[in-house]
Amino acid sequence: MKASVISTAILATAASAAPALVKRQSSDIDGVILNYALTLEHLEATFYRQALEKFSAADFAAAGFNSTNFYKNLQEIGRDEQTHVDFLTTALKGAGVTPVAECTYDFGNLTPDTFLATASIIEGIGVSAYLGAAALITNKAYVTAAGSILTVEARHNAFFRGIEGQSPFPQPFDIPLDFNQVYSLASPFITACPSTNPALPVKAFPAFSVSKSVTGPIKQGDTIEFDLASGCEVPSGPLYVAFPLADGPMFSSAVVKDNKIYARIPVGHTGPSGEVYAILGTNATTISDDYTVAGPAVVEVQSGYLA
Ligand SMILES: *[C@@H]1O[C@H](CO)[C@@H](O)[C@H](O)[C@H]1NC(C)=O
Ligand SMILES: *[C@@H]1O[C@H](CO)[C@@H](O)[C@H](O)[C@H]1NC(C)=O
Repeated sequence: MKASVISTAILATAASAAPALVKRQSSDIDGVILNYALTLEHLEATFYRQALEKFSAADFAAAGFNSTNFYKNLQEIGRDEQTHVDFLTTALKGAGVTPVAECTYDFGNLTPDTFLATASIIEGIGVSAYLGAAALITNKAYVTAAGSILTVEARHNAFFRGIEGQSPFPQPFDIPLDFNQVYSLASPFITACPSTNPALPVKAFPAFSVSKSVTGPIKQGDTIEFDLASGCEVPSGPLYVAFPLADGPMFSSAVVKDNKIYARIPVGHTGPSGEVYAILGTNATTISDDYTVAGPAVVEVQSGYLA
């Protein structure tokens, strides 16, 4: 099976695997998927553990986040992610598969503000990862288990979006991502992994991101500047920025200038809203790993009622 196909499944399974079930029914692919899920859960668990070691409740209050139970909620989210890690690790061991261990990570020099903004994005990626994986899981019982993790990641994401002053539920559908897309978003945080970790059939595409020069809310119809990884080879033919959406992708023509990409956020009732993804590619009608040049970029598009 191609890595790109397996990839979708990655996080999906994470939740699911009760150890006994795994032992009875798991296929090789499900084991790979569980390890992908565990890769993301390790990242999340470490992210919260490090931030909560660094920042106290008083630090958040001083930054303006002093509502009742605010810090306790952050601690609870951190515990959820560590519980997901423990669950997947146990499930994989029960299935006779070596679980991936924690890597080292670089989340940048976070402040309470940037921690909360990053948490919101990471939880959104988690939702997209589990959603994308769901269809690839071979064991039906795992689908339910993955779903039980997905809904919790979605609640975490809504919590952080509310804190950020964004709609907690900006669209009627969430967006699935495939494994290479998810890994492309996660890998910039990953510094190094133990050499004993099982190798996963995933790759990261070149980095693609909304340019720092873009300030203020992004709305449908805006033309946005994107940064492209330096050294990223741009094919000479037409380029498109693709926006995967639950009911079908939307595309904008991309203009390249000085290693910057310019593209319009598509407009439509079911168009981009909230945390969406922009992928630079060579195909005007299809998103696939084969046509991907760079990305995804995470783009926060102001939802209709806030616009
Ligand atoms: C939070 O901070 C605001 C502004 O400083 C203050 O008015 C409010 O009383 C504080 N709330 C709590 C629960 O400490
Ligand atoms: C775009 O993707 C479709 C579907 O895979 C394919 O038929 C078509 O040839 C592709 N076009 C280009 C320019 O790659």
